[in-house]
Amino acid sequence: MEITLNNGFKMPKMGLGVWRMEKGEIKYLFLNAIQIGYRHFDCAADYKSEPEIGEALAEAIESGLVKREELFITSKLWNSDHGHVLEACKDSLKKLQLQYLDLYLVHFPVATKHTGVGNTSSALGKDGMLDIDTTISLETTWHAMEDLVYAGLVRSIGISNYDIFLTRDCLAYSKVKPAVNQIETHPYFQRESLVKFCQKHGICVTAHTPLGGAAANPEFFGATYNCLEDPLLQELAEKYGRSPAQIALRWGIQRDTAVIPKTSKLKRLEENLQVFDFELKEEDMDLIKNIDKKYRTNLISTLAWGMDIYA
Ligand SMILES: NC(=O)c1ccc[n+]([C@@H]2O[C@H](COP(=O)([O-])OP(=O)(O)OC[C@H]3O[C@@H](n4cnc5c(N)ncnc54)[C@H](OP(=O)(O)O)[C@@H]3O)[C@@H](O)[C@H]2O)c1
Repeated sequence: MEITLNNGFKMPKMGLGVWRMEKGEIKYLFLNAIQIGYRHFDCAADYKSEPEIGEALAEAIESGLVKREELFITSKLWNSDHGHVLEACKDSLKKLQLQYLDLYLVHFPVATKHTGVGNTSSALGKDGMLDIDTTISLETTWHAMEDLVYAGLVRSIGISNYDIFLTRDCLAYSKVKPAVNQIETHPYFQRESLVKFCQKHGICVTAHTPLGGAAANPEFFGATYNCLEDPLLQELAEKYGRSPAQIALRWGIQRDTAVIPKTSKLKRLEENLQVFDFELKEEDMDLIKNIDKKYRTNLISTLAWGMDIYA
């Protein structure tokens, strides 16, 4: 149920993603999630929900529902705060009502124009493209992240949306090695080389969008494929008496990644957590390898930033 990170801290393999949860429903979902056994929560300054999450966490801890040390809380440094790492982290801690974070990630490997600490709006230039700051290197950002560990504000630091080139570079310049690389990966976007590269070098991979979630929201992303509708996942769901979502999550866990599905539905909170009482056979893991479409669903940069940052 837990992965031991390269610094000895443990991270639950199953976490709850909070991106795109509606304002007003978060506290209720958090308290229910803790009640049914979630301990790992994937937050970010950019999700603009830290104040509400902070209220939920304070209530859960004060009421004795859970102890702080039983929780694993992640937040992320937004692109516009690469030059203000300490202030940004302190801002997230204040909003979350916490003394320390379990994990703090560089959300994207790109620094953009600073828009004020905690203000995560993505500034676009006159040309309609993301206003990228070319004066701050990722190495500079990383050393500021390391200072957060030395200051006791965060237990682990990591990266997100880094490819093999950038991850390798980070390993070369880091004194505190990244504990996690959080990347989009699911049965339609398997990224076997990146996953293996990270794992070989002691970096735990956390699968964001583990259900290919953007495809479940075609009105938002215009996505074409929904991996949960894949005939093989449906066939395996039938075979194991599970849902296609449980098959996708179990597949993620069996390839030694942590998974952080988002849901706003209580029934699905339980469903997504129930993936530790069965195992996919090796031959079925192999079959899932064949349905990879190399299909990235999270096209937020193309849609909102006027450029494809993965180009
Ligand atoms: N680091 C990054 O750049 C980054 C980027 C994207 C996401 N993330 C993190 O990863 C988390 C998950 O990603 P995501 O929300 O984009 O995608 P996801 O978790 O793959 O999918 C979420 C979608 O799947 C639906 N869903 C959840 N459980 C289901 C089930 N059992 N059966 C069928 N449908 C189900 C949800 O709908 P309902 O809510 O209606 O159930 C929602 O529409 C985010 O919340 C965030 O924390 C990080």
